[in-house]
This record gives sequence, structure tokens and C-alpha cells, in this order.
Amino acid sequence: MKLNKRLLTLSEMVNEHYDLVWDCCCDHGLLGFKILADGVIKELNFVDLVPDITNKLKRKLQQHGHHLPKDAQWQVLCQDVSEIALAKLASQLPNDARQLVIISGIGGDLIIEILNKLTPNCSGLHVDFLLCPVQHTYKLRKRLRELQFKSKDERLVLENNRGYELMLISHSAGQAMSLTGSDMMWKNNPLASDYLNKLIGHYQRSLRANQRDLLYQSALDDYCRLKEQCC
Ligand SMILES: C[S@@+](CC[C@H](N)C(=O)[O-])C[C@H]1O[C@@H](n2cnc3c(N)ncnc32)[C@H](O)[C@@H]1O
Repeated sequence: MKLNKRLLTLSEMVNEHYDLVWDCCCDHGLLGFKILADGVIKELNFVDLVPDITNKLKRKLQQHGHHLPKDAQWQVLCQDVSEIALAKLASQLPNDARQLVIISGIGGDLIIEILNKLTPNCSGLHVDFLLCPVQHTYKLRKRLRELQFKSKDERLVLENNRGYELMLISHSAGQAMSLTGSDMMWKNNPLASDYLNKLIGHYQRSLRANQRDLLYQSALDDYCRLKEQCC
């Protein structure tokens, strides 16, 4: 099983104990499989919306499950991520149960919609999120700040000429969320200059198409300022 750099880095960011991990929008299921194979996490739910995908994944897991540690437990759920039963399952776990919800490989706008529905169900629970949006990170980070998330770990991966911001966030611990990405992500990072140039180019083009968009303007100003500071 060969994981690309983005999925491998996400799996490495799962380096503390969680009683239950959710690999949401799992598609091929490679990320969840790797996390279970690493042995730190004992229980994981794969979630995807498309029945053909979840049926195929179930068959694949039944075929290759013997490569996983003996005590690994998994389920494949065919449902919308915004409806996963965090509170119900938490009631079957220890009182101080820790859950991690991974949402990777979909647009930032869709992640915002999902978090708007999921976060009200997290109150009183210990739930961290590991996110990897494919676009609209600035808008997503703005919403994460409004939802009072903090940043525990952030990494930048460049793959196939595309940049990915990987963010481990929590309500209970971490640094204040930055709109442009934390120092952990940018400092001493040889990829920073390339990725920032891409972002700046993207917001310049977006502003040319829609000059009055305040979010585009603020993103462009912030990324240009960051470039002066760190590259
Ligand atoms: C490109 S794949 C991402 C695969 C993997 N997570 C990754 O990062 O490479 C996106 C998957 O998200 C699923 N998806 C999109 N919206 C969803 C939702 N609201 N609930 C569950 N799955 C969803 C799609 O069916 C698709 O399989």
C-alpha cells in the first residue's frame, strides 16, 4: 500500500491517543487503513456518502484486514459526514473519551458546511479535527476562528504542483488560529515561497474577476505581507 506524501503526512499527524478516529470522505480508505496499521489507534470508522465506494471498501477491508493489528476495530458507514453520531458513540466510550474527525480531500467550502452542522454536536465532548481542504483555506480558517478552534499542528505539503495545508485543530488546546497559517507551517519551510506565490497569483486573478470581494482583498493583503516577512 503506497500512500502519497499528503496522506502519509496526515497519518503522521495522528500521533496522540484517541479512543475513536473517523476517516471521513474516506473514498479509497487508504488513510484510515494506514492509521490503524500504525497501531496507535485501535478503533476507526470509515465514512463516505457513496454506496458503491463504501461497498467496495468493505470488501477490500475484509480481504486485507489480516494485515492490521489483531485488536484493530473498524466499521464502514455510508452516510453524510455532517450527520455522524459523535455524541451517541461517545456515550458507548469512556467518560473522558477522545475522538478525532479527519476530513480530507474535499473543498474548504464543503468543510465549512460540514463543520457548521457538526460542531454544535461537539459541546461537552472531546473532539479534535484533522483537516486537509483542497481549496479555500483562507475562508475556512476565518470560519475556524469564528467557531473558536485552536491550532495544535499545521503542515504544508506540495504535491503534483499543488499546495495542501494540513491542520490539526481543537477547542481545548493549541495556538490561536491564523488566517494565513501558523508559524509552524511557514517557518524554515523551503516550500513556503512557491506556495505563497501560487496563493498570491490566485487572489490577484480572483480580484480581477470580482474587484469588490472584501475576502479576496484581505487574503491578498495578508499573503503579500506574509511573503515580505518570511520569504
Ligand atoms: C477526493 S475523495 C477524498 C479521499 C481522501 N479522503 C483523500 O484525502 O484523498 C472525496 C470523497 O468525499 C466523499 N464525500 C463528499 N462529500 C461528502 C459528505 N458530505 N459526506 C461523506 N462523504 C462525502 C466523496 O464521495 C468522495 O469519495
